Amino acid sequence: MIDLVNVSKRFGDLEVLKGVNIHIEDHEVYGIIGQSGAGKSTLLRCINGLESYESGTITVNGTTVDMRDKKSLRQLQRKMGMIFQNFNLLNRLDVYDNVALPMKFWGMKTNTPEAKAKIEGLLKLVDLEDKIHARPRELSGGQKQRVAIARALVLDPEFLLCDEATSALDPAITREILALLEKINEEMGITIIIVTHQMEVVKQVCQKVSFLKDGVVLAEGRPEELFVRPSKEVKAFLHEESSLLPETGTNIQLFFTDESSDDPVITMMARVLNIDYSIVWAKLEDFRSSVYGSMVLNINEKDRERVCRYLDEMNVAWEVLEK
Ligand SMILES: Nc1ncnc2c1ncn2[C@@H]1O[C@H](COP(=O)(O)OP(=O)(O)OP(=O)(O)O)[C@@H](O)[C@H]1O
Ligand SMILES: [Mg+2]
Repeated sequence: MIDLVNVSKRFGDLEVLKGVNIHIEDHEVYGIIGQSGAGKSTLLRCINGLESYESGTITVNGTTVDMRDKKSLRQLQRKMGMIFQNFNLLNRLDVYDNVALPMKFWGMKTNTPEAKAKIEGLLKLVDLEDKIHARPRELSGGQKQRVAIARALVLDPEFLLCDEATSALDPAITREILALLEKINEEMGITIIIVTHQMEVVKQVCQKVSFLKDGVVLAEGRPEELFVRPSKEVKAFLHEESSLLPETGTNIQLFFTDESSDDPVITMMARVLNIDYSIVWAKLEDFRSSVYGSMVLNINEKDRERVCRYLDEMNVAWEVLEK
């Protein structure tokens, strides 16, 4: 469990984090999303004890981090594997030795049968057994990130921190890497923190997300709630222009979640209430394994009450869009 309470950090005059509160549960895949310069990398570096902060506290598994206690900071860092956008592999070492690097750093032997079994097991996990003696320059970007993931796991961390880990990869390879992170989360129980500016990444794998803007957490919650039914602030954050809506009649937005019924509500409503309306706009989005959607209907003002009542009866969440 990681708890940040009121964490503030500045570089000279620049206030980078302004009282950040974040709570990350064990075994969660937690996303932190924000634009360039929002303070995401700084926040991750505070979490893994690489960066100090002026005020606030960070608690990891119930122990408050003390930045002056170098020995416990090193223990903390050992619990946290980290991967980056540019992979940070050493070109002069082959894949095996790159993965073994953290072991070397901790003074452990890297050629014992146990070490060999560990590293080979991790390369199997990331599906790179056949590249064990390849050099990083012989690998694609996706393969390099897999090596970096194996390296981040070699000391059996409790947390895996990912700083823009898929930002340099194309969409198909990004999906593969995210599927691998999901597998690591599910099978090894490792808590994963993903820092990114890519909304798609958060929608695909995160169970919870924080929106970071100029060092402030604007909103925190389940991605499907924040993206499908965004508050005004979140809409602005996502740069979602309010779509052009008809001037006449009433515009109602409907929200469909995984709890919505499978009934064809839209066509049923027209038939049951014997009314007409138009669909102004609709979208469906995938969140992990579920599909969520929303739709705007333009109805006659006189039908408003009946439509709202019908939607309530059918258990569909709705909201009238004010002009
Ligand atoms: N070591 C440093 N010294 C001074 N300023 C810094 C330092 N590190 C970061 N900053 C500043 O802090 C702000 C936040 O930087 P940070 O790297 O945390 O942002 P970010 O959200 O990770 O951005 P990006 O998406 O571009 O990686 C930026 O304005 C940056 O210039
Ligand atoms: Mg960054």
